[in-house]
Amino acid sequence: MPYVQRKWAEMPRPIVCLAPMDGITDSAYRRLVRSFNSNVVLFSEFTSAEGLLRSDKVRQRLRFAPEEHPYFVQLFGNTPEAFRQAAFIVEQQGVAGIDVNMGCPAKKIVHSQHGSGLMRDVNQACRIVEAVANACRVEVSVKTRLGWSDGDKLIPFASSLVSAGASLITIHGRTYDQHFSGRACWEPIYALKRHLTVPVLGNGDVQDYQDGLRKMGNLDGFMIGRAAIGNPWVFQPHGRRGGPTLRERVAAMIEHYGLMREIKPEHQALIEIRKHLAGYLRGFPLAKSARRTLLETTDEPTLLRRLEALAEGPEVLALAS
Ligand SMILES: Cc1cc2nc3c(=O)[nH]c(=O)nc-3n(C[C@H](O)[C@H](O)[C@H](O)COP(=O)(O)O)c2cc1C
Repeated sequence: MPYVQRKWAEMPRPIVCLAPMDGITDSAYRRLVRSFNSNVVLFSEFTSAEGLLRSDKVRQRLRFAPEEHPYFVQLFGNTPEAFRQAAFIVEQQGVAGIDVNMGCPAKKIVHSQHGSGLMRDVNQACRIVEAVANACRVEVSVKTRLGWSDGDKLIPFASSLVSAGASLITIHGRTYDQHFSGRACWEPIYALKRHLTVPVLGNGDVQDYQDGLRKMGNLDGFMIGRAAIGNPWVFQPHGRRGGPTLRERVAAMIEHYGLMREIKPEHQALIEIRKHLAGYLRGFPLAKSARRTLLETTDEPTLLRRLEALAEGPEVLALAS
């Protein structure tokens, strides 16, 4: 069925999203997540607005399959003009919306006033949102943090973004200073929701769907990031006790690798699948040496042979290696 564009405001609650994650949420993983969850909203990895204008390779990275809808592209950058042109291109690709990254804490990004850096320049942040909103008709959202070093300015900052045209705000419950340390704090996000007329999503430390529901409070939904790595089941409302079986995990790994190979060459897929394999094996009793053997595999036939052996049991993997 063709995707029918829906406004954030009209989406059924809770709005549950796969958080944008660089190096993780490529089209392969998004399709795998979709195959397990029909309603999850999918976000791309963050993509440079300027890079998109210059490079075909960057544009190709944003390609998606129809079943990925609702699919949102996240852009980062710091010039309204680059965002305006990039938004136009992205809209032509048929996405459901464009998300502006105002939360990335990486030094390189922040020093060039991208990502979290925009929290310190409200004027520029609003000009970017305005530029995107005026350039396209799809939904425009912003993903940001509580603030730079505290949450004092969260309400005025997010209110300005909404006045500039943002139709949804996602808050990762940490400040820039915290990066990923400590525990995400959701109280300021609940307070923000009481001041905004647009939907607000919470993010930070959600372990699974039920945990998201517990944390959601008065919000419209939540995003799951790290807990979704190697865990496409994390969005299911009724997870099984003990999680998926070894065979199910291995089947997902093989499927995932196959989807990657549809869009990436072997050497790249073999490197990128490692982070995911570590996620699939999280919490699973597997000897360190077996885990290493699997993660360090350098050719495709061996990887597939080892995965098939693992499905039979860790001892079979040990024999096959
Ligand atoms: C490997 C990795 C890559 C990430 N890349 C992005 C990104 O491209 N854009 C973004 O807004 N956030 C990015 N994030 C942050 C997540 O979207 C999310 O806000 C953060 O991990 C907190 O949520 P969690 O506790 O559910 O992981 C990334 C996080 C990780 C771990």
